[in-house]
Amino acid sequence: MIKRFFSSTAEIPQAAAVPRHIAIIMDGNGRWAKKRLLPRIAGHAQGVERVRDIVKACIERGVEYLTLFAFSSENWRRPEDEVSRLMELFVMALEREVGKLHRNGVCLKVVGDLSRFDTRLRELIEQGERQTASNTRLTLTVCANYGGRWDILHAANNWLRDNPGGELSEEALTPYLSMPYAPEPDLFIRTGGEQRISNFLLWQLAYSELYFTHTLWPEFNAKALDQAITSYQKRERRFGRTSEQLVER
Ligand code: IPE
Ligand code: IPE
Ligand code: MG
Repeated sequence: MIKRFFSSTAEIPQAAAVPRHIAIIMDGNGRWAKKRLLPRIAGHAQGVERVRDIVKACIERGVEYLTLFAFSSENWRRPEDEVSRLMELFVMALEREVGKLHRNGVCLKVVGDLSRFDTRLRELIEQGERQTASNTRLTLTVCANYGGRWDILHAANNWLRDNPGGELSEEALTPYLSMPYAPEPDLFIRTGGEQRISNFLLWQLAYSELYFTHTLWPEFNAKALDQAITSYQKRERRFGRTSEQLVER
C-alpha cells in the first residue's frame, strides 16, 4: 500500500532534526579522475564506493529515504565510450551490491525511463527491486535515465490516460510521479561545486533545503554528509510563513 505523504505546498510538513529524505546529485567524478590523470571511468568507479559509504552512514543516522542521481536523461550526450562504461559499472554494482543492501535492510528502487537500458541491466534492476521490496530500514532510490521534466510529463500523461477529459490537480498528480512512496526531500545535496539542479527532481524539490559543496563525489564521506546535515539543522524551514509564526507554534 502506498503511504500518504504531505505535500509541501498543500500542507506544512513536520521537519525533524535528521532529514527523513536526502536527495543527492553525485557530481565531480570526472574531475576527480582528471586531477589524478586517470580515465573518467576510474572516477565513476570510485563514486560507487562512496555510494556504499553514504548508504551506511544514512542508515546509522536514521535517514529513511536516500535518493541518488546516477544518470540523467541528458547524460546520453556524453561520448559513447563513457556511456557504455557507465552502463557496465551499473551492471557490476548491482551484481555486487544488491545482496549486501538486502542484508542491511535496504529497499532498492530504480526510477527513470528504463526502456532505453539493455535487457541484462533491466533484469538486474527488476531482481534487485523484487529481492529488497519488503525491507524498511532505508529506501534507496537510484535515478537512472531520469529527468525531472520526464517525470512530470510521464506522470501527467499516465494520469490523463486514466482520467480522460479530467482536470489535473497537485494531489492527483503526486501518485503518478516516480517516487510516490517517499516524502519530498528535506535536504538536497550537490557535490562537485556546480550550483544547479540539472533536471533532477523538479517537482519534489519545491521546499527542499539546498546544499552545495565543492567536495567531489569520490571524496564525499560520512563527515561531509554530517556537515550537510549540520547546515540543514541550522535552516529555518518556513514553508511560506514568517519567523514569528514559527516561534508561536
Ligand atoms: C557525475 O560525475 C556522474 C555522472 C554524471 C554519471 P561527472 O562525470 O559529471 O563528473 P564531472 O562533472 O565531469 O567532474
Ligand atoms: C548531473 O550531473 C547528473 C548526475 C550526477 C547523474 P551532470 O554532470 O550531468 O550535470 P551538468 O551537465 O554539469 O549540469
Ligand atoms: Mg558533472
